[in-house]
Amino acid sequence: MERHLILAFESSCDETSVAVIENGEKILSNIVATQIKSHQRFGGVVPEVASRHHIEQITDCIDLAMSEASVTYDDLSAVAVTYGPGLVGALLIGVTAAKTVAYAHDLPLIPVNHMAGHIYAARYVKPIEFPALALLVSGGHTELVYLAGPGQFEIIGETRDDAAGEAYDKIGRVLGINYPAGKEVDRLAHLGKDAFNFPRAMDDSDSFDFSFSGLKSAFINTVHHADQIGETLNREDLAASFQQAVVDVLADKTVRALDAYPVKQLILAGGVAANQGLRDRLDSELKAFENVDFIKAPLKLCGDNAAMIGAAGYVGYQLKQFGDMSLNADPSLEF
Ligand code: KG4
Ligand code: ZN
Repeated sequence: MERHLILAFESSCDETSVAVIENGEKILSNIVATQIKSHQRFGGVVPEVASRHHIEQITDCIDLAMSEASVTYDDLSAVAVTYGPGLVGALLIGVTAAKTVAYAHDLPLIPVNHMAGHIYAARYVKPIEFPALALLVSGGHTELVYLAGPGQFEIIGETRDDAAGEAYDKIGRVLGINYPAGKEVDRLAHLGKDAFNFPRAMDDSDSFDFSFSGLKSAFINTVHHADQIGETLNREDLAASFQQAVVDVLADKTVRALDAYPVKQLILAGGVAANQGLRDRLDSELKAFENVDFIKAPLKLCGDNAAMIGAAGYVGYQLKQFGDMSLNADPSLEF
């Protein structure tokens, strides 16, 4: 088989990442420079700080990705880059770097949607078979996506307010957990029980849309009320109750979507796909769907990284969906 190497870039939020991917399926290198420490004291990502870090990190990331993969620019077939959605200043650094490499080495440029990238992280487990359904849960998005074929994405449900990851980060703050709080809330949740019975918004509705802001407010009000009357609530139980409400809604909607859309695969992807409670719950729900193959994005590739962009970029490469030097960042890019 011919060897096609893609140099992939990701800089949509707070990770600067560059990867070299072979035939969209093999990671030769995947350098991820995280900026989380710089944003933690602000309780979230500060866009201007993110852009500055991307500028400082990007050339080192390119050099490291190329040397770790033991390749030269002559070996590359194309350059792929996230051009949205995300923070505009952050995206622009990756887009500019990718355009520069493509221009300097006369390589085709492949624009990649960050959310498509998250889905394609599953490609490192096994090839994606169509039709497929993806539950895409990240810090900025919560979506059920129907994939009819390569490059064909249709959102069948999405959050009407907060994304699941955003809700994790906001309630984590109330528990005194540093940004991003998801992983630690997940850990605490496993030590507690669902004692608070928080609301499961839209769980009974036929729509595949989600809503997490009511749950977030219920959580915050519960903690503040307890503070006011001098009561201390059990943190593990709070985390477990929150997580159970999130997982119930995500799992119930996914199961209903699988009933409505016969598919070959269910893909779980995005930062919140690392959630152990969600992975376990879907594992058990999927036992009832014998003909559906459940693919969880590898834990190490759930968060933002360029390897997933390289996998999605390879699809764009095969479909010849090339961009040119006019490519711009699109902060609110949709499928
Ligand atoms: O996909 P991602 O890395 O960035 C975006 O594109 O948004 O997702 C980051 C989000 C954060 O909100 C973080 O708290 C959440 O993923 N997260 C988790 C877990 N690990 C990361 N949420 C719940 N459980 C986890 N284990
Ligand atoms: Zn992401």
